[in-house]
Amino acid sequence: MSMESDIKFIDENGLRIDGRRPDELRHIKIEAGVLENADGSAYVEFGKNKVLAAVYGPRECHPRHLQNPSKAIIQCKYNMMTFSVSDRKRPGPDRRSVEISKIISEALESVVQTELFPRASIDVYMEILQANAGTRCAGLVAASVALADAGVPMKDIIPAIAVGKADGKLLLDLNKEEDNYGQADVPMAIIPKTGEVVLLQMDGHMTQEEFETALDMGIKACYEIYELQKDALKRRYAVETPEVEE
Ligand code: CDP
Repeated sequence: MSMESDIKFIDENGLRIDGRRPDELRHIKIEAGVLENADGSAYVEFGKNKVLAAVYGPRECHPRHLQNPSKAIIQCKYNMMTFSVSDRKRPGPDRRSVEISKIISEALESVVQTELFPRASIDVYMEILQANAGTRCAGLVAASVALADAGVPMKDIIPAIAVGKADGKLLLDLNKEEDNYGQADVPMAIIPKTGEVVLLQMDGHMTQEEFETALDMGIKACYEIYELQKDALKRRYAVETPEVEE
């Protein structure tokens, strides 16, 4: 974001480096229940981003001193694989992954009915297999579907997306070049049933008017992603009725 560049983000036809229109999402793929040994799981692609989420619990909380006698805690772990970025990512937690784990956990706490499971822990692991900007949003989308797949009681599932700015224009769902060399990046997530915003960050600069338009663009896209999340869960749990012979 901080680096100024000579890259032209919008061509003479108004299209982006990857051929998208400014308000166009990357291709999104969501699959629920992809892992045998987790209580719930999901695989998500946002363009070149590839994320796997796994959920365990509600189960006994370890370490025990973290237990809350009135509700379950949600322990999230966002992790980038060493091969997920072009320069090898040093394994293990860093400031960025701790921050992303925290904001995702806070977003999920707004929908998971944690009060039903006092003293328990719900553990959510997000592994970034391939990163191309927007991995916190893809991670949260995957985590929500994995929690639903695990049968964890929730008020809603959470969609998320980033809106940013490059060449002075607002762009939906930034790719890596737009994120790294553009002017702003605003990831967000909502509870679709209420419209409540449960994650909102901003890196870079926007005018207030741009920010309001960016929010509108992102929220609209969140409702589209919400449909894809529900479709993935329906596909996972669709029961095929056997044909009855006459
Ligand atoms: O992924 P997200 O946009 O949520 O977070 P970011 O901190 O804005 O990172 C943007 C992108 O930079 C990531 O998705 C990766 O593609 C890239 N990145 C990287 O190449 N190496 C890192 N250590 C961290 C991020």
